[in-house]
Amino acid sequence: MFTIGIIGCGSIAHTHVSAIQQIPSLKIGMVCDIEEQKAADFSRRLDCPYVTDYHGLIAAEGIDAVHICTPHYLHHSMAIDALNAGKHVFCEKPMAIHPSDAENMIAAARRNKRTLGICFQNRYNRTSQEAKRLIDSGRIGKVLGGKGLVTWNRGKAYYASGDWRGKWATEGGGVLINQSIHTLDLLNWLCGGTRAIKGHTDRFLLADTIEVEDAAMANLMLKNGGNAVFFATNDYAADSAVEVEIVCEKAVLHLDDKLTVRYADHTDVIENDTLIVDGKPCWGNGHKIAIEDFYRCIEEGRPFPICGEEGIQAIRLIRGLYDSEKSGTYQNT
Ligand SMILES: NC(=O)c1ccc[n+]([C@@H]2O[C@H](COP(=O)([O-])OP(=O)(O)OC[C@H]3O[C@@H](n4cnc5c(N)ncnc54)[C@H](O)[C@@H]3O)[C@@H](O)[C@H]2O)c1
Repeated sequence: MFTIGIIGCGSIAHTHVSAIQQIPSLKIGMVCDIEEQKAADFSRRLDCPYVTDYHGLIAAEGIDAVHICTPHYLHHSMAIDALNAGKHVFCEKPMAIHPSDAENMIAAARRNKRTLGICFQNRYNRTSQEAKRLIDSGRIGKVLGGKGLVTWNRGKAYYASGDWRGKWATEGGGVLINQSIHTLDLLNWLCGGTRAIKGHTDRFLLADTIEVEDAAMANLMLKNGGNAVFFATNDYAADSAVEVEIVCEKAVLHLDDKLTVRYADHTDVIENDTLIVDGKPCWGNGHKIAIEDFYRCIEEGRPFPICGEEGIQAIRLIRGLYDSEKSGTYQNT
């Protein structure tokens, strides 16, 4: 049995709560939010104590692990403090805004011999897992290239919903680090890693609303050769299904709300497991599966697959993209 403390009782914390409540070996022992009303509401609903200063939560003896569900700029310091206090940490994406902060998180996990997991839950979708298995099996040959496409809608009301949103200091970027980071992570993971990136960002419809970018495009030089292309925007009329395509020597894999594998002589289609979370259609039940696996790995003494070393790769890609815009050249990642 693991007793969990949740820091940040905003939107995504609800998804963590409902995932945790579906796993019999887990229980929530304490919650924290800097806004007392939010912490008190969670506490009442979950029948557990609350604090408004996270130091009180990470110091609590009965808490084994901490879920970090706060704005981006707080992730690294909260995670490092929790790891130093001997807690395991399951941290929402992005693990940090800057690669150096992410490196310090990884070092703190190693030093304290605790597990640090990053919430890239889409890697756990049935279709993502199947695509990765096929590529790693070698049956469809080498990866030649890939693409990632995110066309979503985040308007003025979304950015008004939290002071930290849309600002360099607190969100650390726009569509790249918040909405499309999952897709960039999937693309990089399925392609076997990236050695250099070059890209551009811009603000279109949200130019008078946010400091950060509302659109980005990039070219990724892959470690195994070949290249991948990427485009993301928050200016679309709707939230379309994210698309990832991986071109291999013997098949083309296309992920959207399902996985389509096109061979020269036939096509296989693998459906995803669709779930409605908080009224939003999600492909897969990623949070629950990721959280369940995180605790199973701790129990069995195995490394969690989406550890800090995995989580940092997307941060390096994003920082590399911003740096490439200044230098006009590919940046090593
Ligand atoms: N994995 C996913 O698919 C997914 C989806 C949505 C959000 N997220 C991530 O979850 C995180 C939170 O996003 P959100 O949409 O829930 O934001 P939110 O603004 O709704 O919630 C953040 C909460 O943190 C609290 N908070 C701020 N400072 C605090 C502090 N010092 N101590 C304690 N609590 C504090 C706020 O009061 C707020 O309740 C972000 O990193 C975001 O990128 C991940």
